[in-house]
Amino acid sequence: MNFVVLASGRGGNLQAIIEAVGTGKITADLKVVISDKKDAFALERARQANIPAVYINPKDFADRETFDRVVIEKLREFKIDFVVLAGYMRILSNFFVEQFPNKILNIHPSLLPAFKGAHAMKDAFEQSIAAKGNLSVTGATVHIVIPELDAGPIILQEQVKIDPKDTLESMEEKIHAIEHRIYPQAIDLFAQGKLRIKGQRVLQIKP
Ligand code: GAR
Repeated sequence: MNFVVLASGRGGNLQAIIEAVGTGKITADLKVVISDKKDAFALERARQANIPAVYINPKDFADRETFDRVVIEKLREFKIDFVVLAGYMRILSNFFVEQFPNKILNIHPSLLPAFKGAHAMKDAFEQSIAAKGNLSVTGATVHIVIPELDAGPIILQEQVKIDPKDTLESMEEKIHAIEHRIYPQAIDLFAQGKLRIKGQRVLQIKP
């Protein structure tokens, strides 16, 4: 199976994925990395790993779908079977999601459905402070992408404790460590065909 990583930022998850492909923990081929941000460090990480790195500038296109159509052309060129979003901070058009039904994975830095949106870690941390430590867990979620934002069937999810001593940065570090572990696992389960999606649920096929 061939896959693409779409990323907008520093590419910590991408790096974990590249390493997992290298060690055989992900049994699929990462064919190309695409970014909507010219300076995304994710592109540099791809180049360092000899993976084609493609920047597509959203400003060159009139709307979200026209941009997505160009991304999809690239995916067809690389014969991509499934799509991995790793810190990709653009909302996909319905058109994109329909082209890859149940074949787009995303990682989100909270225990979905809690704290959807672009500021999940900050929101969870601030709520924990406001609740004087009574909201003491958050986490990370890998899910299938559907047109509704941060709402698709959940593949893997893991908790992180928010310690009273935590700063936003130390909590983020703990979440990233979990992400870098569960995302490669989820991608491999998907690539090996070990997941069945039934409505909002993901079932894992046991050997
Ligand atoms: C990750 O924490 C990921 O969960 C989050 O962006 C970060 C990207 O980091 N994604 C979202 O918030 C999506 N809504 P990375 O570029 O180092 O992988």
